Amino acid sequence: MPQASPLMFIQPQLSDTQEVPILPMSSLNEYLENNRDRFESDLSDWLRIPSVSADSSFSSNVKQAAHWLQSHLEDMGMTAELIETAGHPLIYAESPPVPGKPVVLVYGHYDVQPPDPLEEWTTPPFEPTIRDGNIYARGATDDKGQLLTHVKSARAWIESAGELPLQVKYLIEGEEEVGSPNLENYLSTHQHKLACDCVVVSDTSQFARGVPAITFGLRGIAYYELRLSGPKQDLHSGIFGGGVTNPANILARLLAALIDENGRIQIPGFYDDVIPLTDREREQFQALPFNEAQFISNLGVNGLSGESSYSTLERRWARPSCDVHGLWSGYQGEGTKTILPAQAGAKFSFRLVPDQDPASIGAGLREFFESRLPPGIEMELIDFNGTSGILVSLESPYIGAAARAIEQGFGCPPVFIREGGSIPIVSTFMRELGADVLLLGWGLNDDNAHSPNEKFSLADFHRGIRASAYLWQELARIEL
Ligand code: BES
Ligand code: MN
Ligand code: MN
Repeated sequence: MPQASPLMFIQPQLSDTQEVPILPMSSLNEYLENNRDRFESDLSDWLRIPSVSADSSFSSNVKQAAHWLQSHLEDMGMTAELIETAGHPLIYAESPPVPGKPVVLVYGHYDVQPPDPLEEWTTPPFEPTIRDGNIYARGATDDKGQLLTHVKSARAWIESAGELPLQVKYLIEGEEEVGSPNLENYLSTHQHKLACDCVVVSDTSQFARGVPAITFGLRGIAYYELRLSGPKQDLHSGIFGGGVTNPANILARLLAALIDENGRIQIPGFYDDVIPLTDREREQFQALPFNEAQFISNLGVNGLSGESSYSTLERRWARPSCDVHGLWSGYQGEGTKTILPAQAGAKFSFRLVPDQDPASIGAGLREFFESRLPPGIEMELIDFNGTSGILVSLESPYIGAAARAIEQGFGCPPVFIREGGSIPIVSTFMRELGADVLLLGWGLNDDNAHSPNEKFSLADFHRGIRASAYLWQELARIEL
């Protein structure tokens, strides 16, 4: 597990004199300016393909989205292969090696979340529409729009300078939104092919509009489904209620027991491996331009709650949490029906922080529930594949290069943040490839990822392409 990070980054040794192909700014800018419409229409074409990984009825569309990317990369002169897995395919592509220069691996995902509830979309999720400078479609920000910036930036180099200043490899998957079940295996059997000096991922967010960020920490996740069964069929609650254990009552009791009134998770040992926030880190979070009143009003809530004695940013980024995602039992229809339901269930997860281990969290959870199970209830606990949280060292020389590239793309330097979401494979990249990871988010927290009316700012799309084009140059200047 990486070290908790000091927030200063070290300036790397740069070379200005080496034969690095420096892309003349004017020709890059001209290329980017002249191709804005084409970049946008390519993004629209890709967004039109409904690559929903979770729902097997979309699997031919998922494959179609993979093919779209493959031919797009081939069209730029790269070798690009479609790799079949036990699930949805991977796309791997690479540009020619550039000896003496760092090798970059771009990771991203072309799969998207299911678009429901459909009736809440202003325009349909797979009919990309531009309104107020944003492109609206499922996958616009998560992750097709963000990912495409690193493809277009390479295209800009190839078409205006003739070649890239370093080797760029692409590993793009179609199963991120379902927890990347087949990627780890591919990684561990293809370490040589994927060897690189740093991994670049744009699947996070800016801190706020006009405040670009480099993310140095992500939370992990441990996801469960709990199924409780009671009597062999639904019963009359007047005849049997009070004498027969009700699975819906017990479901509510078990879920409620997970968190106390101070927002503390009650599983014994749950916090044992949590790396505490340092005073330094707390000060850095405090210094960020976070407007809590605005945050509250944007969400349409009348207040916030969470673990006591932590700020909202600390709770969201650096403390574990527990959320129920769905629960079901009994009668949901009109009017009343007096049953004691035979079954009850819920899906819920914990967001984890370094160094919490999903497997030991699962063991503690099972014991927690089993010890509270009254007679008359049988429990099934399904453990979906979990992933650990990460902290990236800010001492990597690549961080400085990324900061300079972002400044050139976005017009101001990035802030350094952690985020609460999870990208399952990132911890594996760090472990298996020993590479530094650059999490460079071009999205915004209000892009409606996973929600109705997902969008991506077209200005950020173009800024992201520009930052990425400069990133190749900045990384190529680092002395290996
Ligand atoms: N792009 C997100 C991850 C993310 C979101 C990182 C916000 C930082 C801020 C990714 O596509 C995602 O949604 N991941 C899932 C992982 C899960 C399906 C295992 C998540 O975080 O829920
Ligand atoms: Mn994503
Ligand atoms: Mn996502």
